[in-house]
Amino acid sequence: MAPPRNGSIEFIESGIPHLDFVLGGGLIPGSLTMVIGPPGCGKTILSQQMGFHTARRGRKVLVLTTLPEPHVKLLANLRTLGFFEEGLVGDRIELLNVYRQLREDFAGAGAMILRLVREQRANLLILDSLDSVRDLAGSEIALRELIYELSAGLGLLGVTVVVVSALEPQRAAQYPELTIADHIIMLRSELDGARGVRALEVTKMRGAAQRPGLHGYRIDARGVSVYPRQETVPLPAETPTGDDRAPFGLAELDRMMGAVRRAAAAPSSSATPAPARRCWRCSSCWTGTAAASRRSTSASRRPRSS
Ligand SMILES: Nc1ncnc2c1ncn2[C@@H]1O[C@H](COP(=O)(O)OP(=O)(O)OP(=O)(O)O)[C@@H](O)[C@H]1O
Ligand SMILES: [Mg+2]
Repeated sequence: MAPPRNGSIEFIESGIPHLDFVLGGGLIPGSLTMVIGPPGCGKTILSQQMGFHTARRGRKVLVLTTLPEPHVKLLANLRTLGFFEEGLVGDRIELLNVYRQLREDFAGAGAMILRLVREQRANLLILDSLDSVRDLAGSEIALRELIYELSAGLGLLGVTVVVVSALEPQRAAQYPELTIADHIIMLRSELDGARGVRALEVTKMRGAAQRPGLHGYRIDARGVSVYPRQETVPLPAETPTGDDRAPFGLAELDRMMGAVRRAAAAPSSSATPAPARRCWRCSSCWTGTAAASRRSTSASRRPRSS
């Protein structure tokens, strides 16, 4: 299937179920996406899932980690997730730790990263995370200069960049480097009473109209999945049928609807189906139709009482 387009822009699939819908199409080639949120909210998993998806499509991914620890732990965590594919690591996904280079020569960090991207012929660069780069930069100005240098250099190379950072979403306005990002994906992991609630918000999307506001997301053994808020999912265009009724597309239900219409002289409220609503879980099924279909199927299977 051809990738979705927005005018002259051909989006890149993120590989995160339903995230492209919330983004308004997907990632934009050559763009810089910041994934921000508190520790443990899933930034690394989300960005790696994007990386594995990109690699599976035959493209080259460079992951630069910036903590002074080997990749053993990161790989062990990723192996627990369904999108991980051992054969891609070291082949189409190159994992490099640049902590030492950043500590020894921060002024040369921009040139070093651009060189690595060129050497690896990377299409996607993942930097995890900006926080340790900030610590090593020593000042906000040095950090900002590095981001400007990378954004300009990588944009010219047409490389798509995903930068991970544990910035607090509530204090995002205090971080001027966010102004240079093309897309900002904020992850929140909060308590609602005793319940843990995860919510994702795309606060900035250059070149496309995102679905604003908070959307649910879940992390499970498959990785991250997004659950768009129900009212952001458009209803389908009405299909004229000549009798003011749109078919559900389910033969059994459509037959029942015809029977309801013939019985219109003696209306019954229980005969009127609830309007179909998009399922908040998957956004691809309709709770109204699915529920009605289930009801009619189970009713037809129910044994008759004698
Ligand atoms: N195999 C798994 N199955 C289900 N959930 C998992 C699995 N592995 C990790 N998680 C969830 O993902 C969370 C960690 O995600 P991740 O490492 O991406 O967070 P992070 O935002 O990068 O954190 P940090 O800022 O500390 O690096 C865990 O807190 C856990 O809830
Ligand atoms: Mg992480």
